[in-house]
Amino acid sequence: QINSASVIVIFGATGDLAKRKLYPSIYNLYEKGHLTDDFAVVGVARRQLSNEEFRNNVKDSIYENSSKAADSKEDSFVKHFFYQPFDVTNDESYQALKSMLENLDQQFSIPGNRIFYLAMAPEFFGTIALNLEAEGLTQTDGWKRLVIEKPFGHNLPSAKKLNEEIRQVFSEDEIYRIDHYLGKEMVQNIEVIRFANALFEPLWNNRYISNIQITSSETVGVETRGGYYEKSGALRDMVQNHILQMVALLAMEPPIKLTTEDIRNEKIKVFRSLRPVIPEEVDQYFVRGQYDAGEVNDKEVQGYREESNVDPESNTETFVAGKVMIDNFRWAGVPFYIRTGKRMATKSTKIVVEFKELPMNLYFEQQEEKGPNLLVINIQPEEGMRLHLNAKKSSPTGGTTPIQLEFNNNSLTSINTPEAYERLLYDCMKGDATNFTHWDEVALSWQFIDPISIAWANNKEEDFPNYAAGSMGPRKSEKLLEKDGFKWWPITHKG
Ligand code: BG6
Repeated sequence: QINSASVIVIFGATGDLAKRKLYPSIYNLYEKGHLTDDFAVVGVARRQLSNEEFRNNVKDSIYENSSKAADSKEDSFVKHFFYQPFDVTNDESYQALKSMLENLDQQFSIPGNRIFYLAMAPEFFGTIALNLEAEGLTQTDGWKRLVIEKPFGHNLPSAKKLNEEIRQVFSEDEIYRIDHYLGKEMVQNIEVIRFANALFEPLWNNRYISNIQITSSETVGVETRGGYYEKSGALRDMVQNHILQMVALLAMEPPIKLTTEDIRNEKIKVFRSLRPVIPEEVDQYFVRGQYDAGEVNDKEVQGYREESNVDPESNTETFVAGKVMIDNFRWAGVPFYIRTGKRMATKSTKIVVEFKELPMNLYFEQQEEKGPNLLVINIQPEEGMRLHLNAKKSSPTGGTTPIQLEFNNNSLTSINTPEAYERLLYDCMKGDATNFTHWDEVALSWQFIDPISIAWANNKEEDFPNYAAGSMGPRKSEKLLEKDGFKWWPITHKG
């Protein structure tokens, strides 16, 4: 149990994220006995709702999204929930919230600890932070923390502006920038696989690794998010945050200790070592794609340009493949290939570490007998890892055959479960910011991304749409690796 004595204020309490992830996660923590009883959750949003209606909504969201649904603890759980209709630009809303929080402090014996969770459109982040300060909501006897969802800006200047606004009110230590990939079980496992095994670390460098591949493919299209996605695209939506975070965890040096600061310092060094892509060379390193109509999971689906709130001549990429180079001693010369996209053949996030060829060939006469050594880390939906090795063929005639050593974390799939949020909320209540992104990481990742998005914005893609829904992206993505003598390893379960 942690000392969860705090009021969590959720801005955007009627929104999708709150319903799908936040309420079920808090419930799971409660149900598993991780929370002490001295906590309260205040939902704020525009809509007029009574506490009772809000509590019923929270219950519904638990039934729909929690793995621990239909438990007797729900009634006692929702007694911790309160609702306040709210206009983020209106002083009176903040004053009403303030007195509500003070009452809840008394009711639940909370020493003024506050978590402000902004689960809503980012254009209001600055306004909310400044108003919380102006109306005295941040001056309490306890601690205060601000949790914010992505996108953190849409480029470096806008991210800086947002950061300056929230930093007027919250110190860097009080800001918890969510990247939900950092809450995923197998993303957290990357460090353990690397630093708790004698086997990998000695080989984890440019002498033994030829390339690393990160794929995060989705079968969904943009669904109801056309408006947001048109301005974002796959590069900003997935690469700037989730994918570069995985690159950092794979590439960082061992931290001195497992403290937030030590880990961050190592990750930041990776971000600083990313080779900048200059606009004239973007095409050599990055490929973009946009989905056309096609078939996903045996269902016909429309192309991106037909989706609602999408310009019929849109130039927004729904797929990105890239070659990221890390210019430091450990990684010089080793490409990190990344790719992500909507409406691809399968939903999967996977890392493949490909080791170099042996110095000499004793065994392999026929190509099919031989497979490279691969370490595959399955982030989702399967959670686990697999090592591809070569072994003797069990036949009197001898020969070799590729074999696989496999570990499956569990038989459950991890898609759309609230577990990542559960871990992150728990960390935030404990005051552990290790799995959240520091400002320096955000700034350096935008610095890397901006020249690519600027080059793309200035150069309309002639070749859109260029991949059929249900495929693995445009042909150019294959070529990106072929020209270096590599290929994407298949991402299907056994691939
Ligand atoms: C979000 C993106 O950050 O991550 C979405 O905005 C994307 O577009 C989602 O669908 C993917 O997350 P997951 O956990 O389903 O891989």
